[in-house]
Amino acid sequence: MSTTTIAPAPAPAPAPAPAPRLLGKVALVTGGASGIGESIARLFHTNGAKICIADMQDNLGNQVCESLGDEANVCFLHCDVTEENDVRNAVDMTVAKFGTLDIIVNNAGISGAPCPDIRNVDLSDFDKVFNVNVKGVFHGMKHAARIMIPRRKAQSFLCAVWQVQWEG
Ligand SMILES: NC(=O)c1ccc[n+]([C@@H]2O[C@H](COP(=O)([O-])OP(=O)(O)OC[C@H]3O[C@@H](n4cnc5c(N)ncnc54)[C@H](O)[C@@H]3O)[C@@H](O)[C@H]2O)c1
Repeated sequence: MSTTTIAPAPAPAPAPAPAPRLLGKVALVTGGASGIGESIARLFHTNGAKICIADMQDNLGNQVCESLGDEANVCFLHCDVTEENDVRNAVDMTVAKFGTLDIIVNNAGISGAPCPDIRNVDLSDFDKVFNVNVKGVFHGMKHAARIMIPRRKAQSFLCAVWQVQWEG
């Protein structure tokens, strides 16, 4: 009795690598030295963006940049988002280094101490959280808009990772 052997089906050709979705885009990521902001910076870089990380943690921010190993397309700037001048400088330095600004991710944020009872809230804690999470985001929006609106560059203008996303 003869046996017929069936040749295995050829393996499907590997799918072509997706085109980097942010090729050539310039992004400023606040709070990009750690946590979600670091992941955003890494993901954007993988997708071809030029990245400026702005954070108060200089050592961590510089480490992230070094680990990406792409000095021409990645940089770190010290920035406290509660200080308007720091945010102004971060935006201006990003434009000076990379020529423009396409994306801002206002990710820097703090949670503040947990306080389950409003009657015990220390208003100085409230002010700290407000200054980073609200005023800091406003500074980012204001100074990114200063660059983006005249250049009609706002293809993607992220507000804060937990707040609002506007795309236009
Ligand atoms: N992790 C969560 O589950 C979660 C949930 C909801 C919202 N969020 C928000 O997402 C954002 C990132 O969260 P995360 O978990 O990565 O936090 P994280 O604490 O790990 O990272 C925050 C980063 O922001 C930086 N930062 C803090 N204050 C700053 C300031 N004044 N100026 C510049 N940089 C500053 C920190 O140095 C740090 O690198 C925050 O805005 C946070 O409030 C996080």
